[in-house]
Amino acid sequence: MNEIKFIDLFAGIGGVRIALENQEFKCVFSSEINDACIKTYERNFGEKPFGDITKINEKEIPNHNILAGGFPCQAFSSAGLQKGFDDTRGTLFFEILRIAKEKNPEVLLLENVKNLKYHNKKRTLDTMIKHLEELGYFVKWEILNAKDFGVPQNRERIIIVASKKKPFDFSKINKTQKNVKIKDILDEEHQDMKFLEPSEYILIDDNHIKTQSSGLIFVGYRDKPIRINGARPNTEHLSRVHKQCNRIYSSEGTHPTLSSSEIGGRYHIYHNGKVRKLTLNECFKLMGFPDSFKKNGSNGESYRQIGNSVAIPMIQAVAEQIKEQLF
Ligand SMILES: C[S@@+](CC[C@H](N)C(=O)[O-])C[C@H]1O[C@@H](n2cnc3c(N)ncnc32)[C@H](O)[C@@H]1O
Repeated sequence: MNEIKFIDLFAGIGGVRIALENQEFKCVFSSEINDACIKTYERNFGEKPFGDITKINEKEIPNHNILAGGFPCQAFSSAGLQKGFDDTRGTLFFEILRIAKEKNPEVLLLENVKNLKYHNKKRTLDTMIKHLEELGYFVKWEILNAKDFGVPQNRERIIIVASKKKPFDFSKINKTQKNVKIKDILDEEHQDMKFLEPSEYILIDDNHIKTQSSGLIFVGYRDKPIRINGARPNTEHLSRVHKQCNRIYSSEGTHPTLSSSEIGGRYHIYHNGKVRKLTLNECFKLMGFPDSFKKNGSNGESYRQIGNSVAIPMIQAVAEQIKEQLF
């Protein structure tokens, strides 16, 4: 088989790139607008991504077999479905269409938040599908969860595969049967870990602890001030629980989705009878990043970068089937 070439759009810190390179696909072009991400990417791949994709002439992008990108989600006008190609103009999805129209790659592999499915009363996804079909692609999509791919994180994402040859079959994707837990990826205990004092949290009664279908095991919450406003009578004490950053999860289960907005890295776990913050390194492991990956920038910046990235084993499993079914 000839080398399979891909382009890495909205490249971030290169999570998608690692997944595709692990399938021996070759990256021939990358684009990313954020300076801090660009630095991290350059450090790891020895290549500086081109900047703002809206400023790049599609004719100058090298030929490729796969266009890959986890693009930011933006709404289309309510008239979206009726209008032509133009109604996506000004959105980042338009940039993907513009490049696909010119370069005609066999496959597009797109990743986004699960909510894209419902976004703008489902118009956003419908409009995307319609425009990809107009370019001659079969379009299939599925919501996949990182926890089914060997990383203990409940992270649901929509994956869209558009292909020229035949429709992609998501049912063939290899999910791991292994039930991986947070405790399986934890670092050895060390002195820089941030433990909470027992007075700083409240553990819930054992009888009320249950494993949720997502694999999360909620065991307690940080003892932060109670917010009375808006709380129903007798539930005021639970107002702390409503904030994700106050929740504590057992290391015997999976971890909630890492978010790009949690730049303080306030993810707390209960492990070996103690509560502590997850380390930055552990966050990278929850996304399946290799130990060799070089972080870059402040801690806050790194938490943002990893929260924006992808669970590598999940993308890799999709890439494996793209290779199998479409090349
Ligand atoms: C959801 S993140 C994708 C992260 C990536 N998949 C990873 O593994 O790190 C979307 C990325 O698109 C970038 N972006 C937004 N607008 C852009 C533009 N006009 N040109 C290039 N990149 C852009 C953002 O800076 C962000 O890093």
